[in-house]
Amino acid sequence: MASSYSAVYAAWKQDPQAFWAEAAGAIDWFRPADVTFDASQGVYGRWFPGAETNTCHNCIDRHVEAGCGDRVALIYDSPVAGRVKHWTYGQMLREVQALAAVYLARGVTRGDRIILYMPMIPQAIIAMLAAARIGAVHSVVFGGFAASELATRIDDCAPRLIVSASCGIETSRVIPYKPLLDAAIDLAGHKPDHCLVLQRPQCPAELKAGRDLDFLQEVETAKSKGVDIPCVPLAATDPLYILYTSGTTGQPKGVVRDTGGHMVALQWSMRNFYGIGPGEVFWAASDIGWVVGHSYIAYGPLLGGNTTVLYEGKPVGTPDAGAFWRVVEQHRVSVLFTAPTAFRAIRKEDPQARLIENYDLSSLRALFLAGERADPDTLAWAETVLKIPVIDHWWQTETGWPIAGNPLGLGLLPVKHGSATVPMPGHDIRVVDDAGHPVGTGVLGNVVIRLPLPPGCLPTFWNADERFRTACLEEFPGYYKTADAGYIDEDGYLFIMSRTDDIINVAGHRLSTGSMEEICASHPDVAECAVIGIHDAIKGQVPAGFLVLNANVSRETIEIEREVVALVRERIGPVAAFKTVMCIKRLPKTRSGKVLRGTMQKIADGLDWTMPATIDDPAVLDEIGVTLRERGFGRAAHPA
Ligand code: COA
Ligand code: AMP
Repeated sequence: MASSYSAVYAAWKQDPQAFWAEAAGAIDWFRPADVTFDASQGVYGRWFPGAETNTCHNCIDRHVEAGCGDRVALIYDSPVAGRVKHWTYGQMLREVQALAAVYLARGVTRGDRIILYMPMIPQAIIAMLAAARIGAVHSVVFGGFAASELATRIDDCAPRLIVSASCGIETSRVIPYKPLLDAAIDLAGHKPDHCLVLQRPQCPAELKAGRDLDFLQEVETAKSKGVDIPCVPLAATDPLYILYTSGTTGQPKGVVRDTGGHMVALQWSMRNFYGIGPGEVFWAASDIGWVVGHSYIAYGPLLGGNTTVLYEGKPVGTPDAGAFWRVVEQHRVSVLFTAPTAFRAIRKEDPQARLIENYDLSSLRALFLAGERADPDTLAWAETVLKIPVIDHWWQTETGWPIAGNPLGLGLLPVKHGSATVPMPGHDIRVVDDAGHPVGTGVLGNVVIRLPLPPGCLPTFWNADERFRTACLEEFPGYYKTADAGYIDEDGYLFIMSRTDDIINVAGHRLSTGSMEEICASHPDVAECAVIGIHDAIKGQVPAGFLVLNANVSRETIEIEREVVALVRERIGPVAAFKTVMCIKRLPKTRSGKVLRGTMQKIADGLDWTMPATIDDPAVLDEIGVTLRERGFGRAAHPA
């Protein structure tokens, strides 16, 4: 099929408001918008002001009302819990109504915040939808974060209620969540009224009288009373959720997602970008703690009337590298979305992809990759073994849906390995130098998006308009700064190469090296430190810490290194994958005292590097090289 991409993108460019007004026709509104976009509202304008709608209505009720109550909405597949369960749209409606009744009975109302600290179980999605139903604002915190990260989020969004489960289940171990939750509440200044805890048989938790409530008991009580909780009409500009993501300081940024624009963008993307229609099975193998989970495990597929797969397992080890193929066959998955790291993990275990031969993958039309750069090698391997289109696409927590990609729904464009392909409607992408001047074709620069951002993108940070302005809009006036570096080639294809800030991407998880440095520096024996992201064959990048100890320290350095590793795990959580740390005599710096992290990274990754002209003492880089080689890194590195 010839791609209609160019015509669709041109139509958007010619009249953005008409384009999004038409897309909005796919959503049920209780009251239409006064105008499609009002540039005078909010930080850079707001989409669909005056309109009223409800996300839960559009995800669930309208499909049931249209006679699709028996269609499967969600398939829960958990190799770690040994369960597969189907939930129809009708069943989801009953569960969501019951939980919404529990929320209301416990005093949670429109505008209140609810934190969800949940593993990958259906109740996590039910909890999101129930919040949306009554107009409460949810904030999901990824289970791999430690208590202090959870505490920071509790203090920032001040939830009335926290919904959690007694434990998560990783490949080979059960992780009790309740001690982390209790510790976080102890640490936080703000205290929630209640915690609703779902008891899992693998590790039931002790509940604290008065504060903690048994999730299943509360829901059963609500059901026995008979529940009919209507969807609250909300302003299109009301927040649906807050999702915290790493910023350049230790304080995470609370990305706000609105109600109306979010639905319009996601619904458009399901058919036009991912090419998936109602009743088809869409599987985003991610986690509800990340934006991919919000947009494409929960909201996007349900808005589209698709069947979504909620997979509580890993690509390898649950039980083997054929896990993804088993799920595709068993649930007849049409479109799969995951991070490249998952394919690197599968390839390492099963390089010849022999396990694929055991499964029927005929239902699978396409594989979408995002969350980190899809390295051409992994992409080519996936194409070879799956024999279907493999599509890299680029976006961020802030944008909520693809900024650029190859739109399967509109008809695929020729694939260029290493490129995220072309901008989606709504995104006018430019590449500029540090002064904001456009750079030439093929020249690397800052990737920025012309304002206004399209529906679905963040209107602001939670309670922090000014931080949003300074972090994202100030440096390049009139544009949103993505903090990614890249270039556009002669065919208009976009290549995203790296971040321009201190964020690293570890197994598709976004982490700030700055916040790791803050933690390393808090160790009493550490005088100064640097954390950089170094290449890892599976996770893409992993953090590596370099510590300079105080002069008077006489303890074994190995002991201090172990303590620092434990400290980062305790403060950020296992998700940081912070396992490599080394003590060095001094850090390489410029004469003005700036640590040369970029050069350290090149040496660690075994890349050619040039001696920075401004370096204070060139000998320091030799010392770093020696230490790295002793630890097995950077063997081939040499100054160019
Ligand atoms: N709750 C508690 N702990 C968690 C957790 C959760 N929800 N998720 C991860 N962890 C822990 C892991 O057990 C691991 O702990 P360890 O250091 O004690 O082994 C640590 O956090 C790092 O986890 P992870 O990054 O997932 O690494 P892994 O080695 O367990 O698995 C992959 C590596 C590549 C298989 C895995 O990251 C993966 O499947 N990624 C692709 C999909 C994805 O989630 N992408 C994200 C955005 S699209
Ligand atoms: P997150 O907000 O966690 O989704 O992370 C977003 C960041 O991940 C982006 O700013 C990029 O740095 C990186 N990223 C995501 N998808 C891609 C991609 N397809 N190619 C390159 N980088 C990507």
